Amino acid sequence: MALYGNTHVTGVERTFDRDDIIVSKTDTVGKMTYGNRTFFKIAGYTENECLGVQHNLIRHPDMPRCVFDFLWKNLSAGEEVFAYVINRSKNGDHYWVFAHVTPSYDAAGKTVGYHSTRRVPNRKTVDDHIVPLYKTLLQLEKSAESPSRGLAAGNDAVARLLAEHKVSFNELMFSLGT
Ligand SMILES: Cc1cc2nc3c(=O)[nH]c(=O)nc-3n(C[C@H](O)[C@H](O)[C@H](O)COP(=O)(O)O)c2cc1C
Repeated sequence: MALYGNTHVTGVERTFDRDDIIVSKTDTVGKMTYGNRTFFKIAGYTENECLGVQHNLIRHPDMPRCVFDFLWKNLSAGEEVFAYVINRSKNGDHYWVFAHVTPSYDAAGKTVGYHSTRRVPNRKTVDDHIVPLYKTLLQLEKSAESPSRGLAAGNDAVARLLAEHKVSFNELMFSLGT
């Protein structure tokens, strides 16, 4: 079940250690199947509260929808994705990550789920590039007449940005620094 009501935010940022890695895994439809200790600690949820639940449990309202649309399109096509993400902890605090998300395959090459590994992002990159970019995308999405038009507007803006800089989405994320 998607928990869309979970949008209360405190404005308080949580951080984690540069040596830490936040790991979670999902099944093929995005329900969590695994989290490491660092994941549960920073998200503020217990393992029981997460397993079998959609990963949007920790979605933060400042995240543009087009980033997740890009994520799912690429994962479904067997591609890995790198992205900066702001997440929401259970009490409404937030934390920024630099995520690498990949499909997981069985021995026959069939996709059995997805795997995300996140590290501490570069603070300057988040502040100087990602926050303004995501704010612009979110405004475009929210000012459209419908959610689908909003998503299309967000996707168009990302496509224009990539064309302008002649880079892929992953290259853009890396070119901004990690
Ligand atoms: C392996 C994996 C990890 C994910 N990690 C996150 C995450 O940390 N935060 C997040 O908001 N969404 C994450 N997502 C994306 C969610 O599944 C979902 O698309 C997103 O929260 C947007 O929710 P919505 O589609 O209901 O709007 C992840 C998806 C996968 C497959």
